[in-house]
Amino acid sequence: MPSLLDAVGNTPLLPLRHIPRRGAPVLVKCEHLNPSGSIKDRIAVSIVEDARARGVLEPGATLIEATAGNTGIGLALVAAHHGYRLVCVMPQKMSEDKRRTLAAMGAQVIVTDDAPPSDPRNFQNVARAMAAERGWFLTDQFENPVNVAAHEHGTGPEILQQVDGRLAAFVAGAGTGGTLTGVGRCMAARGSSARLVLADPEGSVLAHWVRTGELGPDGRYAVEGIGGSVAPTNLDRSVVHEAETVSDEESFAMTRRLIREEGLFVGGSAGTAVVAALRVAERIGGDEPVVAVLPDGMDRYLSKGWLGG
Ligand SMILES: Cc1ncc(COP(=O)(O)O)c(C=O)c1O
Repeated sequence: MPSLLDAVGNTPLLPLRHIPRRGAPVLVKCEHLNPSGSIKDRIAVSIVEDARARGVLEPGATLIEATAGNTGIGLALVAAHHGYRLVCVMPQKMSEDKRRTLAAMGAQVIVTDDAPPSDPRNFQNVARAMAAERGWFLTDQFENPVNVAAHEHGTGPEILQQVDGRLAAFVAGAGTGGTLTGVGRCMAARGSSARLVLADPEGSVLAHWVRTGELGPDGRYAVEGIGGSVAPTNLDRSVVHEAETVSDEESFAMTRRLIREEGLFVGGSAGTAVVAALRVAERIGGDEPVVAVLPDGMDRYLSKGWLGG
């Protein structure tokens, strides 16, 4: 019997047709075409199936996650499929569109202040405390190794198969770091010489950390789902070779071009990844492709007005 969950993954890898580039070819991995609209469907399925296989989820159990929105929406799809209840804890910064989508999918949404990780009001700390107090299952994307494994055994092999093993570089932003670490471990295990490149928003501490091992200056930025003020557990610095810093203006201008010139209805962090990928492509040249991830869709951000007129 076919299952909605089988529709997760195996997303297209497409060339940029109109946005000019110099140097190596740039291909985009269309994760916004997953069933609930983001790359997070992959980890939502893997984390819940892993918990079921370990027998730690009772029928009708309550799942809880700290999320910028996308993992919550992916979990809402999986929770509906298996009959679980879902609670999502989101920082104030995240879009109204995501909150409304979560509520529409039947999730309980708790909005916290944009508090730093050291503060008990921080969304991750609130989710962890509620799970402990109420005996709910914390899916825990920031610490759960199944997040990384979903990309090491899913996204990575898919991309290598789609490029016949010929890959110059893989470029992605990092929220939990699961995508970059998982694909990076897959490349290392398969002996690929591809460069792993972090695409980081200006104002995040991660690019400086990748380059020096020291956290960079902590600032503010509008793009959602990537970057941070601390280095996430699931981001393994040893598999990341380089980092590109991209401003909100550059990210949103590129997102607008991806939508209007390529027909790719993607979100801001896709713009961040493609700006970084075009720089890498020009720098390394050659005919082996540079692959950039398009994690989610603009339907999650229409209320933000990022595209201007
Ligand atoms: C829009 C968006 N882009 C990129 C990412 C980064 O993915 P990862 O958590 O695998 O680093 C996220 C993660 O939440 C996201 O929501």
